[in-house]
Amino acid sequence: MRIMLLGAPGAGKGTQAQFIMEKYGVPQISTGDMLRAAVKAGTPLGLEAKKVMDAGQLVSDELIIGLVKERIAQDDCAKGFLLDGFPRTIPQADAMAASGIDIDHVIEIDVPDEEIVKRMSGRRVHPGSGRVYHIVYNPPKVEGKDDVTGEDLAIRPDDEESTVRKRLGIYHEQTKPLVEYYGKVAEQGKLTYNKFDGTQSVGDVSEAIVKAIG
Ligand code: AP5
Ligand code: ZN
Repeated sequence: MRIMLLGAPGAGKGTQAQFIMEKYGVPQISTGDMLRAAVKAGTPLGLEAKKVMDAGQLVSDELIIGLVKERIAQDDCAKGFLLDGFPRTIPQADAMAASGIDIDHVIEIDVPDEEIVKRMSGRRVHPGSGRVYHIVYNPPKVEGKDDVTGEDLAIRPDDEESTVRKRLGIYHEQTKPLVEYYGKVAEQGKLTYNKFDGTQSVGDVSEAIVKAIG
């Protein structure tokens, strides 16, 4: 099963990815997490990506496409995968199609911009795994600590309000066109396209996803 999550920054892609991975037994491919790991490791890719990410902009299509193709070629992706944060431009979607990498289910999570700005200020992440929390809506069992490892949680550098607003602008300009793009592919019967109201609770969104894709 090949699933793709589509939604604005902070819509809840990473949060639902944790659930979907467990439910359907497919690995998560989060381009954001992969880039953050490269930043942490101080690789040349990470050094290049850090400036762009901290400014709330997108890294180059070429770089991301190469990264994802390499990841999909790994053995654990043979049974399917969950794309989180990719494709997020038309050229990225075209590159997938040109490589014959088809998607079975597109899951759009819709949340209004103002709600997102509010949410991001309360987000906490576990840098090692990419697990996501919210201090009010989805708190860890112990304040400031990851549920699984007990390690410290962190605030993402790109969650500052002005950067979040910039990321939202880029989403509307460059990623939102994918709604129509994959809508058309769905009309041809090549995938299922479902849109979910991401302002519901985390559990309600998960439940709706399972109802829709089985
Ligand atoms: P990436 O890491 O993908 O960031 P994003 O798309 O901006 O999305 P987020 O991770 O911010 O949000 P999310 O939808 O996962 O929400 P979450 O579940 O965390 O990318 C980061 C950067 O990397 C980009 O800006 C770019 O520079 C670069 N990049 C990555 N991919 C790229 C690509 N393909 N091309 C080019 N550049 C790329 O939830 C947010 C908060 O809300 C959390 O606190 C959570 O607990 C809470 N929450 C979740 N669901 C609910 C709910 N239902 N109710 C209440 N609170 C909720
Ligand atoms: Zn995410």
